Parts: sequence; C-alpha cells; structure tokens
Amino acid sequence: MIGRATAGLEVSITGLGCKVPERVMTNDELSQFVDTSDEWIRERTGIRERRIASQEEALSDLALPAARAALAQAGVEGAEIDLIIVATVTPDMAFPSTAAIVADALGATDAAAYDLSAGCTGFMYALAQGYGMLAGGLARRALVIGGDVLSRLFDWTDRSTLVLFGDGAGAVVLEAVPQQGFIGFELGADGAGGESLWLPGSGSRIFDEADRHIKMNGREVFKFATRILVQSAEDVLAKCELTIDDVDLYIPHQANVRIIDHATRKLGVPSDRVVINVDRYGNTSSGSIPLALADALADDRLRPGMVVLMTGMGAGLTWGSAIMRWTMDGAAA
Ligand code: UT7
Repeated sequence: MIGRATAGLEVSITGLGCKVPERVMTNDELSQFVDTSDEWIRERTGIRERRIASQEEALSDLALPAARAALAQAGVEGAEIDLIIVATVTPDMAFPSTAAIVADALGATDAAAYDLSAGCTGFMYALAQGYGMLAGGLARRALVIGGDVLSRLFDWTDRSTLVLFGDGAGAVVLEAVPQQGFIGFELGADGAGGESLWLPGSGSRIFDEADRHIKMNGREVFKFATRILVQSAEDVLAKCELTIDDVDLYIPHQANVRIIDHATRKLGVPSDRVVINVDRYGNTSSGSIPLALADALADDRLRPGMVVLMTGMGAGLTWGSAIMRWTMDGAAA
C-alpha cells in the first residue's frame, strides 16, 4: 500500500512522549545467561545495553506514562482523544486491549481503542491508520502508541535472539495542523517470510509443543531488512516526488547498527542525518521509532520544517515508511 497525503486537511504529530523501564541490562550481564560476549554483541549489532521490564511492569505501565507525556506536550486532555491505537505484540493480555486499558486510565471515554499487531513495524502501521482516520474526518485527535515488552518472550537460553531486544514504548498525539505535516506512507507485508521471525504457540494454532518464545532466522531477517529498508524508503520518496537529498532526518527501525549502516549507505543519507540509539535500547520493536524520534528531539536534531523519513520492518514480515514535515517545536516530554 502506498499513498500520498491529499491536500486539504494537514495532519501532524503535536506531542511525543516515551518511557523505558529503569532496569538497564548490559551485554556483560547477558553473558551470564548465554555463551556470548560484549565484544560479539557490539561488533555484530552495535548494542551496548537494553532496558528490561520488572516482573510488575506490563506494556500499559510503559504506554501510559508515554501517553501522558505526549498529551501534556500537545496540551490535550485524555477526554479530547477520540482514537487510541496501541501497536504491540506484547499487550498486557489478549483482551481487553491495552488501548482500552490506556483509554480508561486517561479518561478517554469517547475514544475508539484497539491494539494493532504488525511486529516491529506496528508503530508505522498505526501512524498511517491514525493519519487516515484524521484525514478522513473520522477522528479529531488520535493517540498512537508503539511499545513492547519483548523480554517476556525471551528464551533466556537462546543467544541468537536474547542479545537483540529490549523493552520500551513511545506515544504521539496526532492532530490537524495549519501547515504541511504527513506527506506520504508506504506499508507492506510478505507472509511467506513469516517463519523467519515468529512466536508459534501463541494463538489458536496448536503446535506439538507449546512454545512461547521468539524464534528467528537471523540471517534471513538481516537480508530482508537490508533490502526492504532501502526499497520502502525509495518507493515512498518517489511517490511523494522527493529525493533522499530532501530528507533532513532519517529514522530507521533500530534493530542492528549494521542494518542501519547498510540502508544509510545504499540510500545515500549522510551519517549526520541518521538517528541511531540501538546502542542504548536494543531493538524495542514498536517502541523503536518513537524512542528514536524522542532522542532526536532531545538532541535538538529535529526542528520545525524538517523533512523526516521513518522506516520500520519486522515480523510478518512487514515494513512501513512515512515521510512528514516536522511541525512541532520543543523537546519530547
Ligand atoms: O525487527 C527485526 C528483528 N530481527 C533482526 O533485526 C535480526 C536481523 N539479523 C541480525 O541482526 C543478525 O543476523 C544477528 C545479529 C542476529 C546475527 O549476526 P550474524 O552476523 O548474521 O551472525 P550469524 O547468525 O551468521 O552467526 C555467526 C556466528 C555463529 O557461529 P559459527 O556458526 O560461525 O561458529 C553463531 O553461532 O556467531 C554465533 N552467534 C553468537 N556468538 C556469540 C550467534 N549469536 C551469538 C551471540 N554471541 N549472541
């Protein structure tokens, strides 16, 4: 699916907030569980540490503070939100949705609220849906949250997955704005690659042995990621009649610094226009892009008028890009 925003109602991000668990887990700590090393993890992934939720922390415990911060920055009350989408593969529970839990806590009594599952691409899918609902006149103010507590799905004996992921969440408020905001989106899915990154035994399909841990063919996902980050970005740029030179800030999914470097080189993005924070958080799945946006804002690298390109990819296999003109002033809360 690819589309260019139609002129008329401009929609943009007007508030941004993030939350990660307090607990930092270093590579050295992980090497107490599995046969790995700080050196291997840094060299192959660029990751130094990640945040891990406590036993008491569920997704909504991260999503709620992130949402409250985003609302505060936008100057919007919970009751004024009429759409809440939580992109996640680790909701508090299958139902009620985490979005409904968040809506209740925020007093968003008029909001449609649902969770969305698109792996690490979830935030990009949710952003496109939020945009579409606002541009189509179905909603006036949306809260789009991306976050995961993937540590709940770890096999703590599997070094091939354990070292990559971390926990975190980010939230944005979407509203109509007077100037250009979102410019276009490109989203896709290739179910044929589904078993490259999956969680068998987590739904209605019965497996011989119930298995509730992430399973991944790292090399296959690596090949997919390096191809799709470039393809999706090029497609959305072409659709919006822009080139990579128009992009002021590139925010790729934070999965692996080698994947990001490859995409950056192929696309021809100068390194000072790329946001990287996978070293501090690992791959936080749907939290990855909002956390990177927040870091860029905090570092004063994101200012009104800048063209921002974001591309996510993940389980499904799925991918998604968005281009927007940044409209918000001020640091993330
Ligand atoms: O949102 C999407 C989420 N998933 C991803 O982004 C994953 C994409 N894939 C990757 O990032 C990389 O494929 C990995 C980081 C997972 C692996 O890196 P790689 O360079 O593709 O390594 P590899 O799988 O080819 O393994 C190289 C060696 C193997 O040993 P041998 O067979 O050469 O003796 C592995 O057994 O490294 C070994 N290995 C490890 N060694 C230490 C695999 N994992 C580890 C580890 N620590 N954690």
